[in-house]
Amino acid sequence: MFLPDEVIKEISDRTDMEQLVGRYVSLQRAGSRLKGLCPFHHEKTPSFTVSPDMGVFYCFGCKKGGNAFTFLMEMEKMTFPEAAEYLAREAGISLDEYKHTGDFQGSSERQQIADLYDKVADMLHYILLSKPEGKAARKYLDSRGVTPEMVEKFRLGFMPDDRTWLYNFLIRKHYSPEFLSKTGLFSAKYPKISLFTGRVMFPVCSKHGNVIALGGRIMGDGQPKYINSPETLIFKKGEELFGLNIAMLAMRKAGFCYVVEGYMDVIAMNQAGIENVVAPLGTALTDHQAGIIKRNAGRVVLLFDGDAAGVKAAERGTFICEAQDLICEIIKLPGNADPAEILKKNGPDSLHNCLKYPINCFDFILENYCQNLDLTRFQGIAALYGKIFPLLDLTDSEVRREQRLKAIADKINADYRSVYNDYYKHKGGMDQNYTGAMAVQDNKISSELYLLIAVLANYKYFDMVRSELSADDFYDSKAKELFIELEECYRNRVFSRDVILQHLTDGKLREIILEKTSSDEFNLNPETIIRDSIRNVRLNNLIMKRQKVERLLKKEVSEHGDVPEELISEKAYYDKEIENLKGMLS
Ligand code: CTP
Ligand code: MN
Repeated sequence: MFLPDEVIKEISDRTDMEQLVGRYVSLQRAGSRLKGLCPFHHEKTPSFTVSPDMGVFYCFGCKKGGNAFTFLMEMEKMTFPEAAEYLAREAGISLDEYKHTGDFQGSSERQQIADLYDKVADMLHYILLSKPEGKAARKYLDSRGVTPEMVEKFRLGFMPDDRTWLYNFLIRKHYSPEFLSKTGLFSAKYPKISLFTGRVMFPVCSKHGNVIALGGRIMGDGQPKYINSPETLIFKKGEELFGLNIAMLAMRKAGFCYVVEGYMDVIAMNQAGIENVVAPLGTALTDHQAGIIKRNAGRVVLLFDGDAAGVKAAERGTFICEAQDLICEIIKLPGNADPAEILKKNGPDSLHNCLKYPINCFDFILENYCQNLDLTRFQGIAALYGKIFPLLDLTDSEVRREQRLKAIADKINADYRSVYNDYYKHKGGMDQNYTGAMAVQDNKISSELYLLIAVLANYKYFDMVRSELSADDFYDSKAKELFIELEECYRNRVFSRDVILQHLTDGKLREIILEKTSSDEFNLNPETIIRDSIRNVRLNNLIMKRQKVERLLKKEVSEHGDVPEELISEKAYYDKEIENLKGMLS
């Protein structure tokens, strides 16, 4: 398609930049310009600007900028003709007379797939509503309490039982077999066989309400319960949210968004009159999805059923949302029910009641960790730190961090200063001032010291320790001293607990060792205790090293605007090691 300049200008002139960008980014007025969070890079304070008068956008952070055309090309990965067509349509300008000019060969494959999904969704909706084949599905939805209004609003459909019906139908509409094989709607192995048969269909829409994927539920029991269409040119898993097209406006108005687990939950919430709700599609919430929410609302409320999987998902969701600087709250639903079940069983009032009291996610997670750890033991506290400190790292707010440190101190019955020190030790690896709750205090000891006392009681495992850790890995000065003593014995090939005790300069340390080694704390499963402790110490170490690299990286970027390759790979190495270790510990 070849477009004359005056047509491009006409489209530009008639495009409202504020309205266009406003669909993706929540914009605030700042003088003659508008400001918001950049949709092209991750940021916590707005450096993305729109100048509606000039019809341009620019981000001072990532330096991306352009006009309405380039905005869509970046944002929607459209080609220029696609963006032009899109904007022209909105502006009420017909481009038909240019369609066969230049190198334009029909619309792009992307556009064709998009059109197909839209058509198929309409067709399936029609079958559900009006055809004899749709009767069982109508009954099924009715039995689940889904109202006709919701069937309409979400364009629910029914895919006939006949496995080749869709293929034959589309071939009759002149689609080529080759094209159909790229749509994701058919079996990869048997290209005529529909991915879905005899299922209730849920169209997944882009934020503009265009169908981009389909989910299908079996009616009644049976496996798999849901099937989802695969990724295509127009659908990237993890980058879309079910219900977003409806939730977008509502979440901007409310300032927050509910996140539920599935299709039926989004529909149930809508049926109860709540529109600011989305569901990740069959996966855990992704960074990308949280980023979409962040651009439209400041807060999320995670809604999960009360079973163990739900709690785990809520925990993961919290980390993802906090990393996007979203305020994050959780509602744990009663029993193991999801919103759809609550609505069906107890009605909309009951569902509204459940939503009244969201808990702050941090309190929820802390409580949950504490219930599962033995906080009378240092291993328990170290494990708690290992899990909860990373969550503190994510927030930029010192005030919030302080509140959280206080909450932790409260939970483990420790002095706030101590927990504060522990946290900053974990964060910065400062050695000299280290006097935290993990250090010797009221007979409580650091995880490092805990490890070495366990070894002192079971010397044959020292081999294992020294193969994984060296003196430099110990930040607790008492632990370091003990490690050096143990190492000395090892080199001289004589081990005597008494000699070590003799050598120790720290009286308090001697006391603790005596007390601990005289109890039978380390007699049961010493090997497991020691192996886990080594991992804990290594994990803490790696986290500190990673933070050091992160600080260096930040410094490099702000001073030279350039990211040194070695630091990146060093950080990646730590990331991987940390993930590995966490996997082994959980
Ligand atoms: N899901 C999926 N594939 C499955 C099971 C689940 O993609 N085999 C996704 C769907 O998006 C589903 C969500 O995970 O909506 C939540 O799963 P689940 O709670 O099992 O389903 P519900 O939405 O509660 O559906 P229903 O009430 O019909 O059981
Ligand atoms: Mn469910």
